[in-house]
Amino acid sequence: MRAFVSRAIPEEALSIVRTIAEVHVWPGNLPPTREELSQNIEEADGLLCLLTDKIDGALLDAAPRLKVVSQMAVGYDNIDVAACKARDIAVGNTPGVLTETTADLAFALLMATARRVVEAENGLRAGEWKTWSPMQWTGPDVHDSTLGIVGMGRIGLEVARRAYGFEQEILYSGRHRNYEAESKYGAEFVDLDTLLQRSDFVSIHTPLTPETRHSFGLSQFQKMKRTGILINTSRGPVVNQVELVEALRTGLIAGAGLDVFETEPLPLDDPLLTLPNVVLLPHIGSASIKTRTRMAVLAARNLVAGMEGKPLLHPIL
Ligand code: DGY
Repeated sequence: MRAFVSRAIPEEALSIVRTIAEVHVWPGNLPPTREELSQNIEEADGLLCLLTDKIDGALLDAAPRLKVVSQMAVGYDNIDVAACKARDIAVGNTPGVLTETTADLAFALLMATARRVVEAENGLRAGEWKTWSPMQWTGPDVHDSTLGIVGMGRIGLEVARRAYGFEQEILYSGRHRNYEAESKYGAEFVDLDTLLQRSDFVSIHTPLTPETRHSFGLSQFQKMKRTGILINTSRGPVVNQVELVEALRTGLIAGAGLDVFETEPLPLDDPLLTLPNVVLLPHIGSASIKTRTRMAVLAARNLVAGMEGKPLLHPIL
């Protein structure tokens, strides 16, 4: 059998695939173009892909042998799952192994944005630190504040655990109640408007779907406190970025910590980069060595199972 892996991943994961297949790993640091991807999966029985690869029906038609698409990520909005199903191609992802790491980063962003960590460090480097100054680089407290978690799934729950340690009041909204968050961390289930109105920090943990696309825009920012801070580590297009820039510029909200963007990589002429009240990261939510390795290994196991015609460890249904 033949497998195509669309970027270099740890050897520990590749060796799992090599036990059953000849493996071709895309050699570039940048993703293959659509044409390159299409050519490379022509003869493949399995594809291990990343969130930067767009997988749709037209692409799959170029890969008649393909049995499985295994994504090395928990989010899979880049994959047309229905098109895979229609062609009897299994689809897998990597939930569970990146939960805590992503929650750590959401919290790091929250703290960095609130306490102006990046701005202050830049100030130090630029020689703006002339003396200890009573109100220079001050921001809101994280402890004793109210955190609104939009989407209390696996990652949301881990964010709640961290928030509990910081003695934050926790509100959450979403399609489902999470009784563990309520009993362990005192989280209160509220509707989105109430969450926006009462929270000092709003952290988004919803997948990108047609329903959640641009579910955060001006009308949501208008409901937030003017001192409110938005954190997004889910998917960029959940937030209407043009309206976010306007909200940040006009002081509708106080700041934003973002790990994801509508266009990635974030273009260097994006207006977000002109704002002082944002912390911007290059989609590194799951970027610990251990977690990225675990993601690659799980994606490899999903791939092998699919190529062997067995049930995937984490199928997308
Ligand atoms: C995911 O897994 O969906 C993240 O965005 C990358 O780890």
